[in-house]
Amino acid sequence: MSIQTAKRLETVKEYYFSTKLREVRSLIASGKPILNMAIGSPDLDPPQKVLEEIKSALFEEGAHKYQSYQGIPEFRQAIVDFYDQKYGVSLDVEKEVLPLLGSKEGIMHISMAYLNEGDKVLIPNPGYPTYTSVSKLLRAEPIYYDLDEQRNWEPDFEALEKEDLENIKMMWVNYPHMPTGASGNLALFKRLVAFAKEHKILLVNDNPYSFVLNENPISILAVEGARDVALELNSLSKTFNMAGWRVGMVTGCPDKIGAVLKVKSNMDSGMFLGIQKGAIAALRIEEVWYKRMNAIYEERRKLIWELATVLKCSFDREATGMFVWAKLPEGKDAEEYIDHLLYEHDIFIAPGSIFGDKGNGYIRFSLCIPEQQIKEAINRLQVAV
Ligand SMILES: Cc1ncc(COP(=O)(O)O)c(C=O)c1O
Repeated sequence: MSIQTAKRLETVKEYYFSTKLREVRSLIASGKPILNMAIGSPDLDPPQKVLEEIKSALFEEGAHKYQSYQGIPEFRQAIVDFYDQKYGVSLDVEKEVLPLLGSKEGIMHISMAYLNEGDKVLIPNPGYPTYTSVSKLLRAEPIYYDLDEQRNWEPDFEALEKEDLENIKMMWVNYPHMPTGASGNLALFKRLVAFAKEHKILLVNDNPYSFVLNENPISILAVEGARDVALELNSLSKTFNMAGWRVGMVTGCPDKIGAVLKVKSNMDSGMFLGIQKGAIAALRIEEVWYKRMNAIYEERRKLIWELATVLKCSFDREATGMFVWAKLPEGKDAEEYIDHLLYEHDIFIAPGSIFGDKGNGYIRFSLCIPEQQIKEAINRLQVAV
């Protein structure tokens, strides 16, 4: 018997990678030697200490009970210390941090806490597709602001000021930016905070890529007065190779964190203790961890640049983050080209168009793939091109 789904479901499609990876898995099952360089899921292990912590937590008294909705105090303190040491931002351990089951769920929780039907939401184009789908699921209206290579993928404030900003409730920003790798900077953050204040907009910086091939990690909360209008999402997925653990956080002023907690505490019942213990160890890891990871990503990135060059793509060597964002030769359609590479050469790369129409003509390579496999892709394509 078919039961009618909610109207909101008609506003979204299943997530691109959810469907495409199903196809890729079936190609692999049929024996195809697929090289997957599409998704930003770190292939390396988390720090050893993190694994030891989750293991020993399994046997702690009370480990398998529901945990606090706000995370255990030691975890919140580790977040506070991390923000202090890495970004120079001081946070109130009781009221200004909230652990999340990954930052992706935070996008939904923040949106549920602030958006009414019909509210407008400023979303970067290109940008992470979840900002759009969550807004649509809540019957809010995405309003895209274009990011261009010429402007180093930063918003055009003059163009923004000309928009009708009347019903804009919220603005998503994401620096370091995915998919382009633009790093962002304090001057940009100051301008964004001023813009949000002037127009009474909730500004949310989604910040999971601060520590991947990025010299100067910054938090939007470092801007004076940012807490009046801004929240920040952060994540352990990329920095500590813990994507599958589902650990993230939202930080900001007490009333906004309280609003998010009001939603979240009605939707889940705390995070598994072992995961929190592992997360504490990760956040307190020595500096050498970051250096070691970045050295690996740097070598991989050189090879990806080589691969992009074989494909006659152009790219920015100054870009940060876990991906290489590359422009296809003029006239090539990203999705067609991606399918050609997948079906003819068994190589899976993400088409830029899934991040918005401003991503047309671009492709995104992930650095979450061992050097040997990137070399294999270069070999396959050098023979073919
Ligand atoms: C821009 C951006 N935000 C959020 C996320 C979600 O990360 P998490 O694993 O913390 O949910 C991703 C993951 O790819 C991302 O690229």
